[in-house]
Amino acid sequence: MPPRYTVFGHPVAHSRSPDIHRCFAEQEGVGLVYTRTLVDKDKTAFVTAVKRFFDEGGSGANVTLPFKHDAFEWVQECSERALSARSVNTLIPLANGGLRGDNTDGAGLVWDLSENLNICLNNKKILLLGAGGAACGVVSPLLERLPESITVANRTAAKARELAQRFGVEYADFGQLAQRRFDIVINATSGSVSGEVPAVPADIFSGSLLAYDMYYADTETAFMRFARENGARQCADGLGMLVGQAAESYRLWRGFSPDVRSVIEEIRRGRK
Ligand code: ATR
Repeated sequence: MPPRYTVFGHPVAHSRSPDIHRCFAEQEGVGLVYTRTLVDKDKTAFVTAVKRFFDEGGSGANVTLPFKHDAFEWVQECSERALSARSVNTLIPLANGGLRGDNTDGAGLVWDLSENLNICLNNKKILLLGAGGAACGVVSPLLERLPESITVANRTAAKARELAQRFGVEYADFGQLAQRRFDIVINATSGSVSGEVPAVPADIFSGSLLAYDMYYADTETAFMRFARENGARQCADGLGMLVGQAAESYRLWRGFSPDVRSVIEEIRRGRK
């Protein structure tokens, strides 16, 4: 039987992970099966599904919304970066029958920014919009690249404050951003899913090097359009991050590092 992998989520039908991992497997020259597993929005249902999958010989799994925090609370062992994010997107079976949780989202983002888009993060002023799970997962990996500052801003200001205090970075509410300037603006809100742009002052993009939307869509997202129209020099969506985090999961499972760029191109061309 070929090794089996899956992604657990709700919803999960939209997930590109099976396509991406199929490309990686072609690169490695192995046959593997990567499926989507839809689970009821309930921690017990999630845990039951994960147990069943690994009891039946699953070789590894990804976890997507809304189970990343449940996975973090439940795994028997955790990486440093999952601990810092309090969120797990990758499950790796252990020899003793337990599971190790890791979080590759931040690594995916940092790879996309620094290696793929050639943005040096060192000494840059970074604005991170959003204070939910997605934002939380990327603060530590960004800090490791020694930016000048990270400012977290969120629609609900109290959540930005809490997240910023946890990581020792700055925070602001959207209104306080007027006339502030940033080199890199990262949208980690879930607004893009419904085409909503966070209500930030338009001038924050003036002179910025990059506006990055962690969301990925086939066309320019509303956030990217807003940033471009208001002066961002470069705009990018989250496809590079998506493929980058998948590559890091694949490496953890199989010890093989896929070529990420060629897969980004293939997905972009709609060939997979
Ligand atoms: P995720 O795991 O994707 O981060 P989440 O934990 O539910 O999901 O967090 C969603 C984030 O997107 C929050 O920061 C949310 O802001 P609030 O804390 O104020 O709810 C933000 N968000 C969602 N829709 C938004 C919108 N239309 N404008 C601005 N922020 C939005």
